[in-house]
Amino acid sequence: MRSVAVLISGRGSNLERIVAEVGDGCLSGVCDVVVVVSNRSTAGGLEIARRAGIPTCVVPSRGLDADAYGQRLLETLEPWRVDALILAGFMRVLSPAVIGRYRGRIVNIHPADTAEYQGMDGYGWAFQRRLAETTITVHLVDERVDTGRVLAQEMVSLQGATTLDEVKRRGLAVEHGLYSRALRRWFQSEGRLWTASAGGRTPCAES
Ligand code: GAR
Repeated sequence: MRSVAVLISGRGSNLERIVAEVGDGCLSGVCDVVVVVSNRSTAGGLEIARRAGIPTCVVPSRGLDADAYGQRLLETLEPWRVDALILAGFMRVLSPAVIGRYRGRIVNIHPADTAEYQGMDGYGWAFQRRLAETTITVHLVDERVDTGRVLAQEMVSLQGATTLDEVKRRGLAVEHGLYSRALRRWFQSEGRLWTASAGGRTPCAES
């Protein structure tokens, strides 16, 4: 079974679903969430992790450039010896050092087709253009923003969605199912080929 860190910045609804699927769903016996890391101390997802008994670490990013933040992140993650990083609404660009350390083992979910739109607020982008549909993407993370290899995609109909909230509601409903299914396939195909992690868990202090 693969051990993962989930990285968040906010609400944590994708984290919540992943934790549920690990407990009693399609990720059961596939991976284990050993730590949740947030760059914001106010992220709602931290409380979801605590309720589930998962250790949390806050690594504040404010005022740090990508390289400086990446260094802190690496220092925080290293003792946990995780096999993979799962980004679930994590709103910082990872530094080349972090990508290099976990190359091919970092996954993100993006609320748009990464071939069409990269960056923040993918639902706002779709809503402003009054798109009839949008495509959720699960992809590997590389050195550039939202350019890594696509692992899975699913279309969301936006027909009749007259508010941004409705666009987000429909999109998130698809995200939650797609992410866990894509992670399961990824761990069971590519993840099986990885060399074993060193194991070991060391608690970290929230700050
Ligand atoms: C999700 O819609 C996710 O796709 C998006 O942030 C939201 C997090 O929601 N991620 C990005 O935009 C990454 N570029 P959650 O905190 O409820 O999982």
